[in-house]
Amino acid sequence: MAAFHLLLLLPSLLLASTAVADECHDDDHAALVAIDTALGSPYHFASWTPDSACCDWYDVDCDAESGRVIGLRVYQDANMSGAIPDAIANLTYLQTLTLHHLPAIAGAIPDALAALSNLSQLTISYTGVSGPIPTFLGTLTELTLLDLSYNSLTGAIPASLADLPSLSGLNLKRNRLSGPIPPLLLSKSPDQAYLWLSGNNLSGAIPAEFAAVDFAHVDLSRNALTGDATCLFGGAGNTSSSLQHLDVSRNALRFDLSGVEFPENLTYVDLSHNGIHGAIPAQVATLDNLQQFNVSFNRLCGEVPAGGNMARFDRYSYLHNKCLCGAPLTACRQRPINHLH
Ligand SMILES: *[C@@H]1O[C@H](CO)[C@@H](O)[C@H](O)[C@H]1NC(C)=O
Ligand SMILES: *[C@@H]1O[C@H](CO)[C@@H](O)[C@H](O)[C@H]1NC(C)=O
Ligand SMILES: *[C@@H]1O[C@H](CO)[C@@H](O)[C@H](O)[C@H]1NC(C)=O
Ligand SMILES: *[C@@H]1O[C@H](CO)[C@@H](O)[C@H](O)[C@H]1NC(C)=O
Ligand SMILES: *[C@@H]1O[C@H](CO)[C@@H](O)[C@H](O)[C@H]1NC(C)=O
Ligand SMILES: *[C@@H]1O[C@H](CO)[C@@H](O)[C@H](O)[C@H]1NC(C)=O
Ligand SMILES: *[C@@H]1O[C@H](CO)[C@@H](O)[C@H](O)[C@H]1NC(C)=O
Repeated sequence: MAAFHLLLLLPSLLLASTAVADECHDDDHAALVAIDTALGSPYHFASWTPDSACCDWYDVDCDAESGRVIGLRVYQDANMSGAIPDAIANLTYLQTLTLHHLPAIAGAIPDALAALSNLSQLTISYTGVSGPIPTFLGTLTELTLLDLSYNSLTGAIPASLADLPSLSGLNLKRNRLSGPIPPLLLSKSPDQAYLWLSGNNLSGAIPAEFAAVDFAHVDLSRNALTGDATCLFGGAGNTSSSLQHLDVSRNALRFDLSGVEFPENLTYVDLSHNGIHGAIPAQVATLDNLQQFNVSFNRLCGEVPAGGNMARFDRYSYLHNKCLCGAPLTACRQRPINHLH
């Protein structure tokens, strides 16, 4: 008898506990409804109905304990159009905001987002968003990752981004940014730093301050950067830097490569299409993990290092330089033995 009652009770107990976990805070509910309305109630949000708690809605993540909305991740919809709704800022507990592959979302990044002081990951990528990168992003002190890649953002990279104490990943790839790279960018990174700035129109020098940043990954390719890049090689020849991926190709860099020491864990190095001179340091041959090496279209001279893993690289790693020689290129001309006869 008692067992029978328990069995009857069980389903309702389960239901009750699910309902508690999915409970939806009124303020978050109101903010989500406002977001839906602002975007013209797109089909993408068809599950956003009063029949279900908002924590169950598609693209919405709630904190299990507080039941507050901490994540909104909207992906991959070419039909969703309009501006980024101000109402997102009313999701005050938001930690992750992802707007990805929404090409018809346009307009500027709204100032309202400045209120999201708990935001730790902000991704607005592959959208039609334009205008400047707002300075206020430098006040969102919890940010660890900022990804604004593949948009139509213009203007300079705000120096305020260097203030972010927890930022370790910054991706501004493929926009229309111009002006210099702020010197202290990622200088406070608590972890290994990741920086992607490729495919913009950034100019000026690579900040010398980058020598002190513990980079794992740096991509500054396809810009208009000038001067020296040796600060990126783990500081003045610090072969124990953790740098693994370095791409500064397609800029206007001019420096002497001869004295550079490459960090030991490098797997990818692309220095192509610059004005780099000097010789390729023999130390490159000691890099056990190097998979990609490209110094094509520079002004390098002298013998290509041999031994180690250098046999991995064919002549396409060395195209169009001033006077590189030795395998896999043509043999170096023998030096005149003696002119004193
Ligand atoms: C986008 O709109 C087209 C035409 O109205 C429709 O066929 C398609 O299913 C929509 N896609 C999404 C993801 O809503
Ligand atoms: C945000 O919430 C406040 C108070 O709940 C409300 O007055 C305001 O209109 C909301 N903002 C947006 C953009 O929905
Ligand atoms: C940020 O989150 C914490 C809890 O994780 C909460 O106490 C605080 O109120 C939130 N901040 C805002 C501005 O809502
Ligand atoms: C890049 O910036 C330079 C000025 O630094 C400007 O003259 C040039 O037109 C820009 N190029 C593009 C493609 O925006
Ligand atoms: C070399 O780089 C490593 C890792 O970033 C760092 O811990 C070390 O202090 C650096 N050494 C010098 C001499 O800069
Ligand atoms: C290089 O990689 C190895 C293996 O992943 C790791 O143990 C070592 O700490 C790395 N060295 C540096 C300087 O990051
Ligand atoms: C190196 O870069 C040049 C120029 O972009 C390219 O033509 C060449 O194929 C690249 N080499 C390799 C090995 O990827």
